[in-house]
Amino acid sequence: MRLVSSGGLRHIAFIMDGNGRWAERRGLPRRFGHSHGASKFKEIVRYCGDIGIRYVTVYAFSTENWSRPEAEVDTIMGLLSDYLDDCEKTAEKDSLRMRFIGDLSRFDDGFRSRVKSLEARTSGYRNSLTVALNYGGRDEIVRACRELSESGREITEDSLGDALDTSGIPDPDLIVRTAGEMRLSNFLMWQSAYSELYFTDTLWPDMTPAEVDRAVADFFSRGRRFGGVKNIKDRSDG
Ligand code: IPE
Ligand code: IPE
Ligand code: MG
Repeated sequence: MRLVSSGGLRHIAFIMDGNGRWAERRGLPRRFGHSHGASKFKEIVRYCGDIGIRYVTVYAFSTENWSRPEAEVDTIMGLLSDYLDDCEKTAEKDSLRMRFIGDLSRFDDGFRSRVKSLEARTSGYRNSLTVALNYGGRDEIVRACRELSESGREITEDSLGDALDTSGIPDPDLIVRTAGEMRLSNFLMWQSAYSELYFTDTLWPDMTPAEVDRAVADFFSRGRRFGGVKNIKDRSDG
């Protein structure tokens, strides 16, 4: 796949769905799907960087995912903690600006301070990876409104956008959801206003660079008008 930077595709967000079904179809416990999904995620993020995509966001755990059986939540949290260990070891090699969005107050102080220091340590890198953790789009909007009202600031689209967890990150140009569900499941509710949506039946642990290429090619076949009449190829501001 050619490099896509500067072509109006700065930001891809992934709803990594289908880990459980991937395992169930093999007669395996769901946790195997989550661990395969976790390694796939690293490969796909790397590939997006290789083809010139500057911002990648992944939906790792939603505010609603706490309703899963405790053992499954524990498995996912264990994988997230392993992922953080990994990032701490390879931050310089990965050269990615790491950001975490979602309500991290649900996590313990140790986890939160590791996240903060990883964010600070990688803040100078150009390409960025945002991980949505205990994330819900509605929750994020409510927290942002609360912050604005507590600080007495006027509520405008700009001030609200700035108060969101994603402040400073451009809206996703393309949202890719795997595993055949055609919904956003509370992901980036504000930021997805004009995102192009791409759905594939591929289960997340089976995701491939070729599937990313298909999503990217599909993106470039779309007419983005943002409410106007002309196709706007690129409204990027950097
Ligand atoms: C996505 O895979 C991972 C998370 C939501 C954490 P699922 O676990 O939702 O997989 P399915 O949808 O049950 O197959
Ligand atoms: C969305 O997937 C959340 C993540 C991928 C982290 P879900 O599997 O939780 O979504 P629903 O329940 O099918 O809507
Ligand atoms: Mg699912």
